[in-house]
Amino acid sequence: MQNSQTVSALNELLKGEHMAIHIYERTKNVQADAQLREMLSKFQGDHERHAGELTQRLQDLGGEPHAATGLAGAMADMGAIINAVRGPEHLIRQVYDGEDKGLHAYEDRIDALDEASKAMVQQIMRDEHDHLQYFAARINSEEQEHN
Ligand SMILES: [Fe+2]
Repeated sequence: MQNSQTVSALNELLKGEHMAIHIYERTKNVQADAQLREMLSKFQGDHERHAGELTQRLQDLGGEPHAATGLAGAMADMGAIINAVRGPEHLIRQVYDGEDKGLHAYEDRIDALDEASKAMVQQIMRDEHDHLQYFAARINSEEQEHN
């Protein structure tokens, strides 16, 4: 059945969104300038919206959305706690890596989706591109400062 392929791909993507939300939860305590803090909270909001959209779409297809908790979230949390302790630049790099993996997860699965899900995911991927670009620029400018 075509739907079951879409449902399992959407559920994998939803798992990734839950991991992202966990990591962004950790960035709340990070020492950062106002602009970075504002972006971190905006991006967390984007991921919460994406998770909501994926959940809704799964329900519309008659699928069972994965719950928000689990090992993936716990592991993302553990890494983020370590990096939060090591300093903001480590956490930003971890968030960047997570964003990069997240975008690849979408790229890898978009062809498995039905048309309606595809259109929704394309919009999500535009947000993800923005997130990735912001962190890339941020890492870049911090490297210049240190040189
Ligand atoms: Fe993102």
